[in-house]
Amino acid sequence: MRSARDAELMREVLRLALQKGERVGHNPRVGALLVRENEKNENGSRKLGKRERISEIGKGVHRRFGGPHAEVDVLRRAGSRARGATLVVNLEPCSHWGKTPPCVDAVLAAGVRRVVVAMKDPNPWVAGRGIRQLREAGVEVVTGVEQARARAINRAFLGRLQVRVKDPIHTIVKTVMTVDGKINRAGARSQTVLSPAADLRRRDAERAGMDAILVGGNTVLVDDPRLVIRSPRLQRERVRRGQSPDPVKIAVITDAGKISRTSRFLTTGKCEKMIFTTSQTSVAARRRLGPLAHVFIVGRNRVDLKKAYGIMHAFGIRRVMAEGGGTLNAELFRLGLVNEFWLKIAPRLFGGKNAPTILNGADIHSFLHLQRIERVTKNFIMVKYKVSRS
Ligand SMILES: NC(=O)c1ccc[n+]([C@@H]2O[C@H](COP(=O)([O-])OP(=O)(O)OC[C@H]3O[C@@H](n4cnc5c(N)ncnc54)[C@H](OP(=O)(O)O)[C@@H]3O)[C@@H](O)[C@H]2O)c1
Repeated sequence: MRSARDAELMREVLRLALQKGERVGHNPRVGALLVRENEKNENGSRKLGKRERISEIGKGVHRRFGGPHAEVDVLRRAGSRARGATLVVNLEPCSHWGKTPPCVDAVLAAGVRRVVVAMKDPNPWVAGRGIRQLREAGVEVVTGVEQARARAINRAFLGRLQVRVKDPIHTIVKTVMTVDGKINRAGARSQTVLSPAADLRRRDAERAGMDAILVGGNTVLVDDPRLVIRSPRLQRERVRRGQSPDPVKIAVITDAGKISRTSRFLTTGKCEKMIFTTSQTSVAARRRLGPLAHVFIVGRNRVDLKKAYGIMHAFGIRRVMAEGGGTLNAELFRLGLVNEFWLKIAPRLFGGKNAPTILNGADIHSFLHLQRIERVTKNFIMVKYKVSRS
């Protein structure tokens, strides 16, 4: 329940955010207070004075762009004293991997009992999800305390989020194929490695320049790929640019219930995960996946990729690398969503009528304009094309 005391503490938090949060750049100004609330005295008979009922454990501020969030700042300093305490913070604790890990995890790990929040985080990656996760974990959450004042101190941040950036999504389809156009052996239960070890570093660099990596459902089920960046140096560079250490992972799958909770798609990576699926995914499966990924129902029998692209755009995604398989590739080309096609050619032949190929689907009408041919190893080449529609 909200109380006058919560409002008083929140005003102190807002003062803190205003005074000490000047160097946050494009980030919001956020302050946090950690207090211990002693609701009753031992025999419950005497009414306690205000000073006796609340004791301050610590203060935290988001001081600079990319630095620790206010909640994490105060929780780190409080250590074990945070157990059972109340956290007062002017913005909903984030639930997503941005430049820093999700704050909700830190709040839960610290054992905070009650959280008082002024306003929801309007960032689409959060938007109430942080509050929901805290409540689901049994934390009491009070919202809307001094909301108008909280919005006023972050007017610039809120205005920036509303700006509709016009840039469309730039999509690169990247495939590794044999000389006969196959991307795996027929009926293979896992990925057949086609790239040489020398290509791994290049692959890291390719992913590091992307906002998101997109894959088809069969690729998630058959290959169980990680889709992450392995180089800590490249991850640090991304964080300096204001991105999460790994690009967002996106899967397109008709029935998301087939994705295991223990799949590498869901369990690896310092990044957010998105799943675009259809109404064939049961409500139980959506609930099971909810805490692990942002799940969107876009279509009945097949994922509506244009709608999925609209949602990706609203979430700020502008550069996407589609890493297969052939069905997803074909659909992206058919819908005219591809800007570049990067084709890696392994010096091998697989044959096999049923082996998956780079494009697997309906007719496509695209033209390719050669940009570069690169030699990765003596035998392994990469060809880069720009794509236009006929
Ligand atoms: N060499 C490489 O570079 C490379 C890279 C990735 C994958 N692979 C290989 O490719 C194979 C998987 O490719 P794949 O063609 O079978 O499948 P895929 O492209 O990975 O996944 C496609 C599946 O996604 C679902 N889907 C739903 N809506 C869709 C939409 N609008 N557009 C496209 N897909 C949609 C469909 O599932 P439903 O059929 O359930 O409806 C479809 O079968 C694996 O063998 C993998 O090892 C190779």
